[in-house]
Amino acid sequence: MNSQKTYTVAIAGLGKRGLHHAEAFAQNPRFALVGLCDIDPARMTAAAQQLGVSYTHPDAAQMLTDTRPNVFVFCTLPTIRLEFIQAGVTAGVQLIAYEKPMATSTNEALAITQLLRENGTRSVVSLQHRYGEHYQKVKEIIASGAIGRVHTVYGHATGWMMHMMPHLVDYVRWYNDNVAAEWVVGQAAGKEKFGDVHASPDYVAGLIHFANGVRGIVECGEGAPDVPEVDYWWRKCRIGAQGTEGFAEVLTGGGWRAITRDSNGVISGPGGMDYAHDMTPYVQQIADWLDDPAQVHPCNGESALKGFEIMMAICRSAVQRGKVTLPLGPGEPELEALERALP
Ligand SMILES: NC(=O)c1ccc[n+]([C@@H]2O[C@H](COP(=O)([O-])OP(=O)(O)OC[C@H]3O[C@@H](n4cnc5c(N)ncnc54)[C@H](O)[C@@H]3O)[C@@H](O)[C@H]2O)c1
Repeated sequence: MNSQKTYTVAIAGLGKRGLHHAEAFAQNPRFALVGLCDIDPARMTAAAQQLGVSYTHPDAAQMLTDTRPNVFVFCTLPTIRLEFIQAGVTAGVQLIAYEKPMATSTNEALAITQLLRENGTRSVVSLQHRYGEHYQKVKEIIASGAIGRVHTVYGHATGWMMHMMPHLVDYVRWYNDNVAAEWVVGQAAGKEKFGDVHASPDYVAGLIHFANGVRGIVECGEGAPDVPEVDYWWRKCRIGAQGTEGFAEVLTGGGWRAITRDSNGVISGPGGMDYAHDMTPYVQQIADWLDDPAQVHPCNGESALKGFEIMMAICRSAVQRGKVTLPLGPGEPELEALERALP
């Protein structure tokens, strides 16, 4: 245990999520911000002033060379992943914390994983909605056995795939105790969103067969069911589990609800996705994992890979028209193949 150590942190990408990370690390006494990086000088200067950090540089690799942090955080758009993982590994950081989606293809995700494994570098991926009180309550109800034997886990979101599906799949896996997925079948429609910075089919759906026999059902994008209780598009997610004696589900922007063996009708409670709330334990558990290798972070990169593979397998299935078994090996980049295959 190393509970008194202060871990140094350098952050690249200071947009919306970079600032969330910077503020959460700055508020935790176990961390000290030692470097900030953005290719946008105005953003970089503003963040440095706000957070009282004296070192800034527009080049992430140079920042890492100059500051040699324990933790490298990057919050760039999805196309910048492998090169920053490489930069972090080269600089010898202990842990890299970065944003979802973990990659834009299976090939990239496997290359990232290999680099991290070979160098013994830990990683976490920001799938932090799980810290919401409503997400936790649903997990607690399912784990207590109050809905009986779980046979189905499900998640849908009106936001498009590269935004929302990493979240959906991760929490669906969690509600099924992170049991391995064996195969998926998927379908997709629409090409408009391939031009977006989160390049995706407009709509995508997948069935997941988990090793314990539980069925996963996920869908997102235009055509996924609305969640009328919630007003803002990316909070319109419904994620939960059905069992032999009831169900429990979370609405990202609208609390939780359940029927259990003993509830005598619907029970419900509060909760709404809140970045400041969720980032606090996410960051604390990074300190806990650095202190003690046995306290593996729930958002660890190996777990994120399992979820990412499910999402990419759904895309492969939409191209190949059949079951895709997991784990995945390298192959044609999924998004390019899917864009070409869709009418
Ligand atoms: N976990 C969540 O809840 C959540 C929520 C929103 C977004 N995200 C993810 O966070 C990531 C970033 O999203 P955002 O909304 O913060 O984007 P953003 O556009 O607000 O910020 C990205 C920042 O990266 C900077 N940048 C680009 N290239 C760079 C480079 N080479 N070096 C340094 N900085 C560079 C940009 O100038 C910008 O300031 C995306 O992958 C997105 O999917 C996650």
